[in-house]
Amino acid sequence: MSTAIETLTKMIKGRRSIFPTSYIQKEIPTTVIEQILESANYAPTHKLTQPWRFVVIRKEAKIRLGQTLGQLYTATVPAEKFMQKKFDSFAQKTAQADCILAVNIQFHPDKLPNWEEIAAVACAVQNMALTAEALNVGAYWSSPPLIDDLGEFLGLAANEKCFGLFYMGYHEEEPREANRTPIADKVKWLEH
Ligand SMILES: Cc1cc2nc3c(=O)[nH]c(=O)nc-3n(C[C@H](O)[C@H](O)[C@H](O)COP(=O)(O)O)c2cc1C
Repeated sequence: MSTAIETLTKMIKGRRSIFPTSYIQKEIPTTVIEQILESANYAPTHKLTQPWRFVVIRKEAKIRLGQTLGQLYTATVPAEKFMQKKFDSFAQKTAQADCILAVNIQFHPDKLPNWEEIAAVACAVQNMALTAEALNVGAYWSSPPLIDDLGEFLGLAANEKCFGLFYMGYHEEEPREANRTPIADKVKWLEH
């Protein structure tokens, strides 16, 4: 049997971003989605503001999201820069994914600076990514600029903002090595 540290290290190092082109058409059970969301709720949070807010987008709503992203792209990109391939990619990705979680942050400027809420939500997303990995669900955090314009689609309140779309789907990808330079290059030790 693996020790806790062996299991944890395997999950942390083995987690990869898995993109919609790799997803297979297989439904993620609601209980699995709930398990992934439950992990988000245990992220650290300064002053216990628990700023993570999610919108679960599945089935017909996924199609509507793809259409909305396409419409927003068309409305915001200068005509001479419009790319049909890019336009088509929104509907493709939302169709390939089985479930998409909009990652939103509720800000509390009276209590905390925004960066602390963003940091807490990033921790929540990592909890979800590791839980998805452990459940063999492929996932990746997508952050197209268009998420700034999704407030109406997502029904966000004035103090909430979307920070990404967490795409999920089952997949049959082989494990792949992480592309990272050594940690020693990023750490300075002070001992004297
Ligand atoms: C805040 C954040 C936003 C990201 N946004 C995108 C994105 O818009 N498009 C994309 O392809 N990957 C995005 N990624 C995923 C990275 O591309 C991915 O983490 C990186 O390539 C390393 O691969 P790994 O996750 O498999 O280790 C994002 C990751 C983070 C943490």
